[in-house]
Amino acid sequence: MTRMHAAGIDPRVEDLLRRMTIEEKLGQMSQSTSMNTLTDQIRAQIRAGRWGSFLNAGSPADRAEAQRIALKESRLGIPLIFARDVIHGYRTIFPIPLGQSASWDPDLIAAAARLAAREAAAQGIQWTFAPMIDIARDPRWGRVAESFGEDPYLTGVLGAAMVRGFQGDSLDSADSLAACAKHYAGYGAAEAGRDYNSAWIPEILLRDVYLPPFKAAREAGVASFMTAFNTVNAVPATANRYLLADILRREWAFGGLVVTDYEAVTNLIAHGFARDAGDAARRAILAGAEMEMVSTAYYDHLKSLVASKQVPMSAIDNAVRDILRLKFQLGLFDGRAQRTGAVQPTPESLALAERAAEESAVLLQNKGAALPLPKSIRKLAVIGPLADSPVDQMGTWVMDGRASDVRTPLRALREMLGGGRVIYAPALKNSRDNSHDGFAAAIDAARQSDAVALFLGEEQSLSGEARSRAFLNLPGAQEALVDELAKTGKKIVVVILAGRPLTFHETASKVDAILYAWHPGTMGGPAVARLLFGDASPSGKLTITFPRTVGQIPIYYAHLNTGRPALESELGVPLGNPANPQGYTSKYIDVDFTPEYPFGFGLSYTKFTYSPSRVSSAVLRGAGRVTVSAEIANAGSREADEIVQLYLSGPVGGSVARPVRELKGFSRLHLKPGEKKTVQFSVSRAELAYYHGEKQFSAEPGLYQVWIAQDSASGIPAKFSVE
Ligand code: NOJ
Repeated sequence: MTRMHAAGIDPRVEDLLRRMTIEEKLGQMSQSTSMNTLTDQIRAQIRAGRWGSFLNAGSPADRAEAQRIALKESRLGIPLIFARDVIHGYRTIFPIPLGQSASWDPDLIAAAARLAAREAAAQGIQWTFAPMIDIARDPRWGRVAESFGEDPYLTGVLGAAMVRGFQGDSLDSADSLAACAKHYAGYGAAEAGRDYNSAWIPEILLRDVYLPPFKAAREAGVASFMTAFNTVNAVPATANRYLLADILRREWAFGGLVVTDYEAVTNLIAHGFARDAGDAARRAILAGAEMEMVSTAYYDHLKSLVASKQVPMSAIDNAVRDILRLKFQLGLFDGRAQRTGAVQPTPESLALAERAAEESAVLLQNKGAALPLPKSIRKLAVIGPLADSPVDQMGTWVMDGRASDVRTPLRALREMLGGGRVIYAPALKNSRDNSHDGFAAAIDAARQSDAVALFLGEEQSLSGEARSRAFLNLPGAQEALVDELAKTGKKIVVVILAGRPLTFHETASKVDAILYAWHPGTMGGPAVARLLFGDASPSGKLTITFPRTVGQIPIYYAHLNTGRPALESELGVPLGNPANPQGYTSKYIDVDFTPEYPFGFGLSYTKFTYSPSRVSSAVLRGAGRVTVSAEIANAGSREADEIVQLYLSGPVGGSVARPVRELKGFSRLHLKPGEKKTVQFSVSRAELAYYHGEKQFSAEPGLYQVWIAQDSASGIPAKFSVE
């Protein structure tokens, strides 16, 4: 087993290990959530070395006092490590990760994580449970909000950027956090999109789709991994030797810390996998789960399991080594201060949050160039339950953000236009409100105005952990509100704030424009206002496929072709029968089989044109490379950013069927009106590799296609063959 070696740390770890009792070792392997306040009982436990780590613990001052006790009053002076879910910001809240991913901007995501790390570290946090890099292909699953979407390549690039942002140049700097790649693995493959549900993942899918982001995080130097709640192919991830021992430790040589998810060890009993807590502890530690979060099976049972030789002492020692090493790496033994500073949003943090919200928003529809609105507008009606809802716009993981910091769209539009030109009518109290009582005032506001900015979507509590939905429509009476407002004949621009893709096909047909803003965080309001009035052009692109209806799920762009692919025009053709099997293609008879909006899609206020893609050579031999290029031109009248995407497919004729397309690269371009740039991507054989056969990972010979395109459903491909 390879381990992370930092100069001078290992001898100090070994020295401590030699002096520790088994109780002290098991204490280190235990993470507790019990320190809401620092009671005398917790003080005594810390003194006795009962806990190695706390999550979500107390106030900064309590944390500092707890740390002082651990360092000065416990027998061996081993520091605690304080963990927290710093997921999309700490005090300054950034868009939910799914929103951030729509920026396709790794530097921005790294900068946001750096800022969150600085704020959290200032209050004595040293470890965050992020990035979540689960592949999310089912919008029913509430945790799509916390993901970077459906694509393994993009998730890997953005996850690695987030790791760099949190961890900085060195873990022991005062403002770095240890990051945690979670949830290893397959949590996003929950059957039926129901949180915590079982995942069945064939080896090819595991290797080509679910694991690559974790490998990318490992290569980026992530300090820890978290085991997932779910079973993978009938074995719970938390006791899964294949995932933890064979792949993570052996194949990837990960030398850092593996923590379980919340009570995931004792959850092994409910899975029907472990007989009791002792059995659960034995199976989790033997697989390689090193620190137990919240449940206490390790502390309660591992001593007797070691005594009865059911668990070797070496398994305990290896776990403690990884825990102590991380504490050394963070500088906790060497004077890293347990900080208690005050944290406030700053002009710098707010500017970054605003930029993130701006780059995250995706323009999905813009009939007749309804957007941007003119600043000369006489009156604007601002309507909807999410126009002025600070908590909701912060999104799912907000433990330290404050509603009082949040700038809502209503506030920002009033600031931009002057209060007298904005007529506000929320119409609904929240996104689930079914009452029509507020409709009359909203219709009246619309009638008095030149245009309606309608803020719809999902409130905060409808997405995130344990928030799976079986219906993805706009909840409450929102659709009825759209119907009523549409009758006024006014221009309606809808801004959707939500934690996942929603289905709103009918609504889209009744309104002029749709801007998808996700849950955009503290500065969502100013960002949306700037986009609506053209101070910036939307540039975000979807990182998850939007279905037309729940019945299409799972739907994702990198699917295999069927033997009977359908044509888009086939909906509504007469139905055949077994004797005359016409139209027996892979489709639905009641809705188009294509998505509402494909992966990679997003409009701009300008128009970009793409030349056909070209390759530098028709054949890729040996260790060579092929350069793929295309010209992108701004054919519109505004300067704007465009996210250019590189897709590949192939080979035809290999030992397995391959996805119709896979993302392999992207780049953000800024073009002035009339400007044209050539974009080039260089593709090597290694980048074409995929799993096939028994553990084979390579690019098989055959014909490949390559697209430089605006999204996953457009572009003119070029071809080359691999010999
Ligand atoms: C459970 C969640 O699955 C995980 O993502 C989170 O980090 C832990 N709870 C700790 O809050």
